[in-house]
Amino acid sequence: MEPRRRVRSFVRRAGRVTSAQARALAELWPRFGVETPEGQLDLQALFGRDAPRICEVGFGDGQALAELALRQPESDFIGIEVHEPGIGHLLLNIERHGLQNVRIIRHDATDVLESWLPTGSLDRVHVFFPDPWPKKRHHKRRLIQPDFIGSLARAIRPGGILHMATDWEPYAEQMRDVADASAQFDNLSGAGCYSGDRADRPETKFERRGLRLGHEVRDLLYRRRAG
Ligand SMILES: C[S@@+](CC[C@H](N)C(=O)[O-])C[C@H]1O[C@@H](n2cnc3c(N)ncnc32)[C@H](O)[C@@H]1O
Repeated sequence: MEPRRRVRSFVRRAGRVTSAQARALAELWPRFGVETPEGQLDLQALFGRDAPRICEVGFGDGQALAELALRQPESDFIGIEVHEPGIGHLLLNIERHGLQNVRIIRHDATDVLESWLPTGSLDRVHVFFPDPWPKKRHHKRRLIQPDFIGSLARAIRPGGILHMATDWEPYAEQMRDVADASAQFDNLSGAGCYSGDRADRPETKFERRGLRLGHEVRDLLYRRRAG
């Protein structure tokens, strides 16, 4: 029997890769891109050091990730994205700022969080403005579901942080309800509440779009429980 295909949280958009992005993809991917591992990733070998590790899921154009990587040279950043122009855009920023502490995974984040990353290997995960999939028949495509929260709990070390944000109120409620229901996370703002604090999150492209549309932005901060 064929294995059941997972419902994807993205559709592969063609998207135009500019010539600068195409050059960055050709020249810089071998240095900063991560290929599918045989088993799990060896993060120590990937970065050549042991440092706090921050992972951003669905980084879009990578502007927020690059900004944080520039501000925090003492930390290592793993970006996961499937959209080629966004990856090219981040590679250009890596080059422009001479960033050494960023690696990029071009693959479905559900697989990466479920099995590529070693257990407890991340200090922090960012999921900023994941696709809201507003239509009811598409809700199953939303990334933040109980199974994905379980994968995040596996990959984040005890005491580590999960930071999510969205401008789509019904999705904010889903994120809060699913993460609050997990026995592996504590809501830093108290069960049922959103964070009044965006922590160190830079403004993102998708956030600006939401603000232009008059949407309210919600930040959600959780700590991975011990054990
Ligand atoms: C709405 S955009 C937000 C991008 C960015 N975080 C921002 O705030 O501007 C969501 C991004 O997540 C990516 N994405 C969605 N599902 C993904 C998955 N399963 N694995 C990796 N990337 C994914 C999409 O390609 C898209 O670029």
